[in-house]
Amino acid sequence: MNLITIDGPSASGKGTVSNLVAKALGWDVLDSGALYRISAYAVQTKDINPEDAQTIAEVVGKLDIKFQEGEVWVDGVEVSDILRQESTGKMASKIAAYPELRAALLDRQRNFIHGVPGLVGDGRDMGTVIFPNAPLKIFLVADVNERANRRYKQLVDKGVVANYDEILADLQRRDDQDMNRAVAPLKPADDAVVIDSSHMGIQDVVDSILKEWAKKS
Ligand code: C5P
Repeated sequence: MNLITIDGPSASGKGTVSNLVAKALGWDVLDSGALYRISAYAVQTKDINPEDAQTIAEVVGKLDIKFQEGEVWVDGVEVSDILRQESTGKMASKIAAYPELRAALLDRQRNFIHGVPGLVGDGRDMGTVIFPNAPLKIFLVADVNERANRRYKQLVDKGVVANYDEILADLQRRDDQDMNRAVAPLKPADDAVVIDSSHMGIQDVVDSILKEWAKKS
């Protein structure tokens, strides 16, 4: 099975690393965080009570979601920019704790493996819940100060006014929510290879994952 799972906390570089690993191997990527962000977008735009887990799960189950050429479409609307907003990320992290929503997204995520040459699953529970039989599971970590630094630089480079302390506090809050929720908490699978990218460049991380994959094939 051509499948690599890459799990880890926010701003650990997972997204970039997943895309580069997939590109090197000619595979597809499942950006599972986008599915939780899409769910948050649905809550925000369809006037759903953020506390109503059952309704959120039902509505999300019926959404027409398409990922194509770097764009994300929901019910015929292109939503990529909205999904990246901070408020969407915050709402995603809150509702991702609902077992009803996680169950509603389970098959949708597993279906990504069908009909593709291979898949890199990027998320928090790819190796523990969604693809427990994946031949290679990576858990990508980085020191929270280093992650805050990276996010701060990304924003400043984009010309956005950013506050380092706020970014750090937000990452710590998000880590806490993701690691301490009852269902599918963020943690390495027992058989995961843990990579600490605090002092590594992106390409070094990609190369070490490709090396791990070469050992499997
Ligand atoms: O990775 P990203 O920041 O886009 O994910 C948004 C939120 O969705 C995360 O903060 C996390 O709470 C949630 N998530 C999750 N399980 C996944 C992927 C993301 O709970 N597999």
